[in-house]
Amino acid sequence: MPTILVTGGAGYVGSHTCVELLNSGYDVISVDNCCNSSSESLRRIEMITGKKIDFYEADIRSYKMLYKIFKENKIDAVIHFAGLKAVRESVLNPLLYYDNNLCGTINLCNIMNKFGIKRIVFSSSATVYSDSSAPPFDEEMPTGEVSNPYGRSKYVIEEILKDLKTSDNAWSISVLRYFNPVGAHESGTIGEDPLGIPNNLMPFVTKVALGLLPCLTIFSKDYKTRDGTCIRDYIHVVDLAKGHLLALKEVLTKNTIDIYNLGTGVGCSVLELVEAFEEACNVKINYKIGGKRQGDLPIVYANVSKAENKLGFKTSRSIKKMCEDSFNWQIKNPLGYRQFVK
Ligand code: NAD
Ligand code: WQD
Repeated sequence: MPTILVTGGAGYVGSHTCVELLNSGYDVISVDNCCNSSSESLRRIEMITGKKIDFYEADIRSYKMLYKIFKENKIDAVIHFAGLKAVRESVLNPLLYYDNNLCGTINLCNIMNKFGIKRIVFSSSATVYSDSSAPPFDEEMPTGEVSNPYGRSKYVIEEILKDLKTSDNAWSISVLRYFNPVGAHESGTIGEDPLGIPNNLMPFVTKVALGLLPCLTIFSKDYKTRDGTCIRDYIHVVDLAKGHLLALKEVLTKNTIDIYNLGTGVGCSVLELVEAFEEACNVKINYKIGGKRQGDLPIVYANVSKAENKLGFKTSRSIKKMCEDSFNWQIKNPLGYRQFVK
């Protein structure tokens, strides 16, 4: 079976994808500097799968370290998750985001070129779509009109990858635009572990449900949607991880560049998610309605026809399952991975 280098493999989506890769028989090497994760997640992946991951604690911006990793291993393809992802932080510190996300990716592609490994799956985001487009978003819609440096870094990386393919047709590239990943592995041993107070809805809800935070603020009920709250396309992280294996198969077997939306294609409002969570987990979520959060679009959901038709992508985990698995992870790990790490 091929050997896959997973950058950012200790993180939320990366760890779930490592599980799917190992369970499917791939050999996995991971590089992560753990700036937003813990190596404990890798130990848990090994526990779930009974298989070993070769781990390098390193920054993908280090040419020396990446050179060493490629020199020491026979790598067939890369799944590239490593990056910073907090929208607000990127507004406050754009240089950090451009340095980390852009320089990291350029360094990685340079090394891949050097070693003649030209197969890559890249984590992009629904955030690259323009707010002037009407949902559902499909891959042909315009991109680049983004409102923050995080989103711009994803847009620019997509453009760099297209240029790379134009310059050298030997590259095989899959760009995956995720919508809103939530949920956790059903064992409850790996999951999303944000540092400090979560920015994203689901980790906030699970913390309120457990009494770790007092109250959820819903960012406005004045949107032109069915209940006044924003609509998003939540996708279970295990369905998302499985999507990576389909994209990987494509880059391993074809000479291609393709962009795919990964979502469910179904929108869910904030209030609907909160209600679904209450019902699925049998808890009350204390919430209040607050003002709008800057930059939030009223409605974001995917057209997933391309991934379905070309990759055979199909999600199977419901909103109920997303809520149950998120809460199960939170209950079993109230302090995330930190309580286990010295
Ligand atoms: P995450 O923060 O949990 O995982 C990213 C991992 O990359 C972390 O383990 C972090 O330590 C590592 N990392 C960051 N910079 C690095 C560097 N320079 N060198 C080595 N490692 C580095 O985030 P995630 O939710 O798993 O997201 C994975 C990818 O998917 C990111 O690129 C993110 O932008 C993208 N994405 C995430 C979402 C989401 O909502 N989770 C949505 C769309 C796209
Ligand atoms: C979901 C909904 C909020 C928190 C972000 C990034 C995007 C992508 C996915 C990386 C929104 C509402 C939230 C809260 C709330 N990440 N909300 N109270 O903003 O859709 O997408 O993650 O690429 O780029 O922007 O996700 O989970 O933050 O918000 O009412 O405390 O929940 O307004 O409608 P978002 P989110």
